Amino acid sequence: MTERPKILVTQRVPDPAYPSLQAIGEVEANMEEGLIWPYEELLRRGPGHEYIYCLLTDNIDARFLEACAAALPRTKMIANMAVGFNNIDLNAATRLGIAVSNTPGVLSDTTADLAFALLMATARRIPEAERFLRAGKYTGWGPLLFCGADVHHSTLGLIGAGRIGKIVAKRASGFEMRVLYYGVRRLSLAEEAEYHLDYVPLDELLQQADFISIHVPYMPSTHHLISEREFNLMKPSAILINTARGPIVDEKALVRALQSGRIAGAGLDVFENEPAVEPELLSMENVVLLPHIASASLQTRTLMAAMASDNLVAHFYGKRPPNILNPEVLENPGYRP
Ligand code: GLV
Repeated sequence: MTERPKILVTQRVPDPAYPSLQAIGEVEANMEEGLIWPYEELLRRGPGHEYIYCLLTDNIDARFLEACAAALPRTKMIANMAVGFNNIDLNAATRLGIAVSNTPGVLSDTTADLAFALLMATARRIPEAERFLRAGKYTGWGPLLFCGADVHHSTLGLIGAGRIGKIVAKRASGFEMRVLYYGVRRLSLAEEAEYHLDYVPLDELLQQADFISIHVPYMPSTHHLISEREFNLMKPSAILINTARGPIVDEKALVRALQSGRIAGAGLDVFENEPAVEPELLSMENVVLLPHIASASLQTRTLMAAMASDNLVAHFYGKRPPNILNPEVLENPGYRP
């Protein structure tokens, strides 16, 4: 093992990430807030570091990983400061013997809070009403002014009831919502009872829900999970909330569904081609758009930053990183920490 490994931190992250990394290795860090290195620059800078601490906007693809595996010193681990890891080719990393970790759990409450905030904001037309007021158009209370949809006592359909989905269900219980869920795996009856969740097939969920909120990871099987066919099953009054990953929703089909009144609105924190947004969405009043901030509370981002470091440091000390995604890399008899 190298005495002090070379560590690359690809973007400016919360301060608590750095001390434990500096304690074990030579840290090279992009300290410019908001600067995301373009892929070619990442490819030029990454290989030659034993450890790479990265973010969901870094494209850690097979080409990048192969370059990291071929360079000296060889890359041992990629620590992603995000729970979603669709930015990393996990199969390629595993094949190349590179460990990968993520940051699950610490952001679940904060993300569920934002999913609920988006749901409320879209249902009650809050950003639209605020724009109206700021534009000086508010001339007096009106019985028809900004009537939206009730959240309480309505039906919420959760696509995915994992760590985050279950917490959204807890938030919904305060609003006395009926909560349906669909997932590839059904929860235990005890969990369904604990979270007041009713399992239904996806099509039934789409037909019955007033609000549909997505909480599944992005992977080949969830690409465009919500597209033309699914929009056609929804109620015309339905509102879609996406705080998961953009490409789970076919964004062009969403635009068509909104334009034709097939559904009533959407609250989106993620987009198919971030940071680009389908231009038609920008001019729609019944759509609330956020710049991928679901986990963005100071407390949670701080926890995520420290957690990514903890995973990396654990690996350095020959321990199993608590959030390793490909433990088979550590278990391989040919593996040397
Ligand atoms: C945020 O989107 C995350 O995956 O952590």
